[in-house]
Amino acid sequence: MFNFEFYNPTRVIFGKGQIDKLHSQISKDAKVLILYGGGSVKKFGTLDMVKKSLKDRKIVEFGGIEPNPRYETLMKAVDIVKKEDIDFLLALGGGSVIDGTKFINLAANYTGNNKAELLTNPKAVASITKGLPIGTVLTLPATGSEMNMGAVVSYKSGKFPVFSPLSFPRFSILDPTITYTLPLTQVANGIVDTFIHTVEQYVTYPAEGRFQDRTAEGILQTLIEIGKKTIDNPKDYDARANLVWCATMGLNGLIGAGVPQDWTTHTMGHELTALFGIDHGKTLAILQPAIWSVRKDKKRDKLIQYAERVWGITEENDDLKIDLAIEKTREFFESLGIKTRLSDYGLTSDKIDLVVSNLENHGHTNISETGDLTLSISREILEKAM
Ligand code: NZQ
Ligand code: ZN
Repeated sequence: MFNFEFYNPTRVIFGKGQIDKLHSQISKDAKVLILYGGGSVKKFGTLDMVKKSLKDRKIVEFGGIEPNPRYETLMKAVDIVKKEDIDFLLALGGGSVIDGTKFINLAANYTGNNKAELLTNPKAVASITKGLPIGTVLTLPATGSEMNMGAVVSYKSGKFPVFSPLSFPRFSILDPTITYTLPLTQVANGIVDTFIHTVEQYVTYPAEGRFQDRTAEGILQTLIEIGKKTIDNPKDYDARANLVWCATMGLNGLIGAGVPQDWTTHTMGHELTALFGIDHGKTLAILQPAIWSVRKDKKRDKLIQYAERVWGITEENDDLKIDLAIEKTREFFESLGIKTRLSDYGLTSDKIDLVVSNLENHGHTNISETGDLTLSISREILEKAM
């Protein structure tokens, strides 16, 4: 196992009706900026519940954070944070709103003039020494943003991950019933996103991270058990509660501590979202089977372990085991209603050049857990994903 530091300061407040506890988590004299997306929280009453719980605190609202939040939108909120002298940021939404809120906080506290450099320069991010406290009310289980220090921001033709310990939410309220109103395709996206976060930290090469491996396998098996169930019965509380908890635990630092991590699927997926607007979860479902097919040899030992322990495949022949595991993974995504080929989204092979040149422009020329996944291998993966 590799050396590691594990730090996670986010308080999780989980379960039905827990939004009532919101008022106890924020100082009484704080001026709160509530941030949300395109309006689902208004339509389904979550914003009203939040305001009720905040009682007579001073509140300012900022709505309109779009999926795959754009830098320009977020900068409008940075102005409000300053002008209104805000003391607390409360994000109400899925990954996009939570990530957007994290970036707004960093940009508002960055002393440099060009805030866009925070997207590409980790040293600029590290120079920020203080931020406002952030709280979240999660409405979409998927990204794990509610309990991690990452944020992904869209700018020009790219998506940029930004990491800072200042971005850990102070608390996150996870009420599975708030997610009942999600369109089923978003629930499916969330299941796939959680699945891929887990395998990006698990299907790499053996590193004697036994706890990490067994925990990852537990998350994957839980998703396989409850995935279709929570789509077919959106109001099955226990199925949904298990999805929410898996999503949070899949990307809060726990299973990735001390083991190799890949992130090829995410790196390539971000380019597909940036170029063609395909939902984050769907890009991952398209790429993962193709990546494993192309990288079978590099990932051989862990793919065999994945086949045996997650899918219970008992074939004698190891190559067959791997092929069956890849096929079962694809079938699982398809069973949730998510298509797994680029052509299913109307893309033709003449678009591959564009994706490869975007990867190159963003410096993704040597990715994966071994740093040897070059542009020509990315091209092969994209061809396989057609
Ligand atoms: O905007 P509103 O009107 O709220 O509608 C949203 C949005 O259209 C809707 N929605 C959310 N909760 C709902 C709801 N509709 C009905 N009922 C509810 N309860 O769902 C749509 C999608 O929301 P979004 O926040 O974009 O989805 P998701 O949570 O999948 O977030 C995706 C973003 O997170 C980033 C992705 O790159 C993408 O930008 N990621 C962030 C990560 C992190 N911070 O660690 C890691 C991930 O790998 C990912 O990259
Ligand atoms: Zn993801």
